[in-house]
Amino acid sequence: MSKNDARHPGSTTGTGAPAPSDRNSLTIGPNGPILLHDVHFLEQMAHFNREKVPERQPHAKGAGAFGVFETTEDVSKYTKAALFRKGAKTDMLARFSTVAGEQGSPDTWRDVRGFSLKFYTDEGNYDLVGNNTPVFFVRDPMKFPHFIRSQKRLPDSGLRDNHMQWDFWTSNPETAHQVTYVMGIRGLPRTWRHMNGYGSHTYMWVNAEGEKFWVKYHFHTEQGMQYFSNAEAAEMAGRDADFHRADLFNAIARGEHPKWKLSVQVMPYADAADYRFNPFDLTKVWPHADYPLIPVGTMTLNRNPENFFAQIEQAAFSPGNTVPGIGLSPDKMLLGRAFAYADAQRNRIGTNFHQLPVNQPKVPVNSYMFDGQMAYHHSGHAPVHAPNSGGRPWADQTGAVDDGWEADGEMVRSAYTLHAEDDDFGQPGTLVREVLGDAERDALVDQVAGSLLGGVRSPVLERAFEYWKNIDPGVGQRIEDKVRAGAAPEPAEGMGEG
Ligand code: HEM
Repeated sequence: MSKNDARHPGSTTGTGAPAPSDRNSLTIGPNGPILLHDVHFLEQMAHFNREKVPERQPHAKGAGAFGVFETTEDVSKYTKAALFRKGAKTDMLARFSTVAGEQGSPDTWRDVRGFSLKFYTDEGNYDLVGNNTPVFFVRDPMKFPHFIRSQKRLPDSGLRDNHMQWDFWTSNPETAHQVTYVMGIRGLPRTWRHMNGYGSHTYMWVNAEGEKFWVKYHFHTEQGMQYFSNAEAAEMAGRDADFHRADLFNAIARGEHPKWKLSVQVMPYADAADYRFNPFDLTKVWPHADYPLIPVGTMTLNRNPENFFAQIEQAAFSPGNTVPGIGLSPDKMLLGRAFAYADAQRNRIGTNFHQLPVNQPKVPVNSYMFDGQMAYHHSGHAPVHAPNSGGRPWADQTGAVDDGWEADGEMVRSAYTLHAEDDDFGQPGTLVREVLGDAERDALVDQVAGSLLGGVRSPVLERAFEYWKNIDPGVGQRIEDKVRAGAAPEPAEGMGEG
């Protein structure tokens, strides 16, 4: 066909003019050289070179879906957030991910799973960026880049390395709780639909009277928790690297809409000072006997993305995005994260990433951030300065903030002050002894021993035995015996990688 006709109106250039051809470049004669003024061809080549954005530093491999959060219970005595008003239905986006693997890595490698939520509320976007475990590896954000690098790849070979992972973990004993989770069944969820999600950090809720509470979020899957065995996960990694991505997409396409129930643990503000565990230490949980679960509502994912790049790859979640009635807490990790995400997104997506449809709030924006690359929304000739006499509103809060807390003292570099029962091994010990059943404990011993046999050398190996004996002497001894006997089953591909 030499010409487009009414039935084949053809494509256009980026500027909307009819494109000459998407199949043949412009040449001098059929075999001749390509001409520099084939602008359409040059545009195709140049744009192609720029059509990827950098992958997320951690959590690169993932996918997600849209849905709705419905508040079914009255929690107004704890928060004034419009999102959590009984009966409120809020559109939302969820993205699930692995932490350490790159874009193409298998979904079923052992790892923590990301559980990111963006609620398009009537008061602006609220993001809750959590994981499928209630705790984390470290408690100071200074350690985070070191932690992530230790889980990724060696500088020379570009290979992942159990020795490096255990070197980091055993040099930072506060990792014990999260390592116990990830070496157990939670490290291999069967699908994203079959795992729980946690805000993990302690956040603040503030009610209409200005009363403050500390809260922890728990999203319990209504599909039931299900896991893969090492063998199943390894087999799936080879057969279908995108298994979790496909499972979520196909379930929603079939009309099976996965659902989670949100409950919160609520701690009265004043309890924090002398609670038996430091409530702002991300390596600790609050036992439910101390602070029981209070139901809030349900999250249902019911709509697949129409375009993966626009709606998932360019989605920008940040724990810094809060709304009235919800605040941060003195958790240093959370405070570090409040900076890190938007900064990553300015680099990864661009200065005006928040103007992209998936990141835009559903409420009008009147921000004093202007221009920059790819600025799309603008406010015409309205004043660009505040205060102004041109009628453009500006914010003017002064005095104590309603989601603040008291902080005073000398500037220091230091670990948290310890509360009565704070130590690095107590809670993981309880997890191993009281929460895991016999079969799960056996699997944990096999998993850890297998991981240690996968290239972990002295002195990290001896440190690892000590680490596990500190968690539980019996389990630690069993791990050491297995490793010394070389008897643990070989870890499957990607196993032992947190
Ligand atoms: C992704 C930093 C701790 C969960 C990211 C990204 C950065 C980051 C830079 C990529 C963001 C992007 O490119 O859009 C940090 C820092 C941390 C920290 C500096 C500690 C100081 C945590 C913790 C959790 C978590 C404690 C969970 C409780 C996630 C999740 C994602 C993510 C789920 C993926 C977000 C998405 O789906 O787009 N993190 N992180 N991170 N992080 Fe963290």
